[in-house]
Amino acid sequence: MSMLIPPLILMLAILSCKGGRYRRFIEWGPDLAPGSFCSSRQCCPGRDDSCTVEILGSVCYCDVFCNRTANDCCPDYYVTCQDVAPVTIASCRFYGKDYDPGIVIRDNCNLCTCSLVQLFRYDWVCSNNTCLIDVQRFNQTSETLGWQAANYTRFWNKTFTDGIKEHVGIATESKAQNMSSVQRKLQSDLPTFFDSRNKWTSWIHPVRDQRNCASSWAFSTVDVAADRLSIESRGLLTNQLSPQHLLSCNRRRGQRGCEGGSVEKAWWFIKRKGIMTEECYPYYGGNTTAADQKCLANMETCPNANSSTAKIVLYVTPTYRVGENEEEIKSEIYKRGPVQATMRVPADFFMYQSGVYRHTGAEVGQSELAVRVVGWGEDADENGRKRKYWICLNSWGTKWGEKGAFRMVRGENHLGIEGNILAVHADMKRSLATHPSEGIRDEGLINIYTNKQIVVIKRPRPTAQP
Ligand SMILES: *[C@@H]1O[C@H](CO)[C@@H](O)[C@H](O)[C@H]1NC(C)=O
Ligand SMILES: *[C@@H]1O[C@H](CO)[C@@H](O)[C@H](O)[C@H]1NC(C)=O
Ligand SMILES: *[C@@H]1O[C@H](CO)[C@@H](O)[C@H](O)[C@H]1NC(C)=O
Ligand SMILES: *[C@@H]1O[C@H](CO)[C@@H](O)[C@H](O)[C@H]1NC(C)=O
Ligand SMILES: *[C@@H]1O[C@H](CO)[C@@H](O)[C@H](O)[C@H]1NC(C)=O
Ligand SMILES: *[C@@H]1O[C@H](CO)[C@@H](O)[C@H](O)[C@H]1NC(C)=O
Ligand SMILES: *[C@@H]1O[C@H](CO)[C@@H](O)[C@H](O)[C@H]1NC(C)=O
Repeated sequence: MSMLIPPLILMLAILSCKGGRYRRFIEWGPDLAPGSFCSSRQCCPGRDDSCTVEILGSVCYCDVFCNRTANDCCPDYYVTCQDVAPVTIASCRFYGKDYDPGIVIRDNCNLCTCSLVQLFRYDWVCSNNTCLIDVQRFNQTSETLGWQAANYTRFWNKTFTDGIKEHVGIATESKAQNMSSVQRKLQSDLPTFFDSRNKWTSWIHPVRDQRNCASSWAFSTVDVAADRLSIESRGLLTNQLSPQHLLSCNRRRGQRGCEGGSVEKAWWFIKRKGIMTEECYPYYGGNTTAADQKCLANMETCPNANSSTAKIVLYVTPTYRVGENEEEIKSEIYKRGPVQATMRVPADFFMYQSGVYRHTGAEVGQSELAVRVVGWGEDADENGRKRKYWICLNSWGTKWGEKGAFRMVRGENHLGIEGNILAVHADMKRSLATHPSEGIRDEGLINIYTNKQIVVIKRPRPTAQP
């Protein structure tokens, strides 16, 4: 701890010529113990070249022209003449522990070096990255934020840049912005609160974890597809679907797997090629990069040799865009099930734990997150003002947010959440035609149990060729 090095090291003596003032001086380390130099003489106002004291065979200065950068001020100049308390210990402190000069430590997502910041003063000099867990914002009360923040271990130490790279997923704005929206009759008398998970229960697929892979584009797409297939087949086709199929096989035209992709291209892929089930083609989550890239969908059997189901491929119809209007979006969800939305991601979003999320001024990233919107509601803030929200499902696991869900300010297109709402219908005909289950494929009328009710499904009749 004691860094008081005896004043042995005469580092160098140089001749300095500045403004006609000739001065021979010695540089001494700032860790030199302060003695009585200026205090044994006197401090000189203005410039006084004779205002010196002997030190280590040379002189040091006590006039206000002494130069702290060149270390020609006497060691006690600041404490005696400027009334500035010197820090005589050459070290930096971090959480009660002292570190030597030159030591590099990590403070959250920044690296800090213990450096000489001015004569007699060492301090940390840190990089200035935006961190996912912003300690200052984290300390703000939920009254200030309007929602509760949490310190997630998986996001601690991470920069916003890495957070976007590893956990978000749409590199560019989706082209679907220009897709025309469908005109539908609006449902009137919608309830003030609605959650698809209550209405359709097990047909709404659970929140998953994309882990360190920017694959929200794939997760939200296959999960909306799975929800819609379940709802429209009345519980016949409820399989969880495979984001890995998209990550590995939908790779051309700028689709970059764990480095991001476009939701519109993902939908287009499922419409054309279909999508396999999660069990059949399980998620690698960017852990095995080789397996990540190789498309295994063209085999007769499942890529997962242990799969208990046969290879099932399900299809959807072309994507449609729902108008950027609260009532239209609500009506769509209420009648037909979850929709997909994309939003810009601010740094503070990573800390969201509960409440109605609103961006608080933290840095906002370029890339977008794709999520499922499953419902809406409203509550009151601390001042009793009404707050409308969407219920959205993220793909950051169930430990994040409200069991994997978050509530987002509704009706303001906050962060673009209402600007790009996409949905699809199940392509029942193609999905059933290729379904390997005899029971499902061949029977015209199928009785199955879902949620303890018998659901009768009529197999769609083949349509006549025009
Ligand atoms: C202080 O000394 C440094 C290093 O010798 C020199 O670069 C700088 O110009 C000096 N500043 C003044 C005000 O003399
Ligand atoms: C660090 O970055 C923030 C935001 O980008 C900026 O306001 C601040 O001035 C920077 N601080 C330093 C020491 O560069
Ligand atoms: C945050 O709060 C903790 C405990 O209340 C406190 O020790 C810490 O200094 C605060 N940090 C900031 C940056 O305000
Ligand atoms: C956040 O969590 C990490 C790891 O769990 C911990 O090291 C860190 O001190 C925490 N930060 C705050 C501000 O609580
Ligand atoms: C943060 O980074 C430091 C240094 O790399 C490491 O020792 C520590 O375990 C990390 N903490 C978390 C929570 O990842
Ligand atoms: C969308 O349409 C606008 C104007 O209608 C046009 O400027 C823009 O380039 C289009 N974007 C794409 C991706 O096609
Ligand atoms: C299949 O199961 C066997 C035995 O349980 C196991 O060793 C193997 O790793 C599994 N393979 C896959 C691809 O999960």
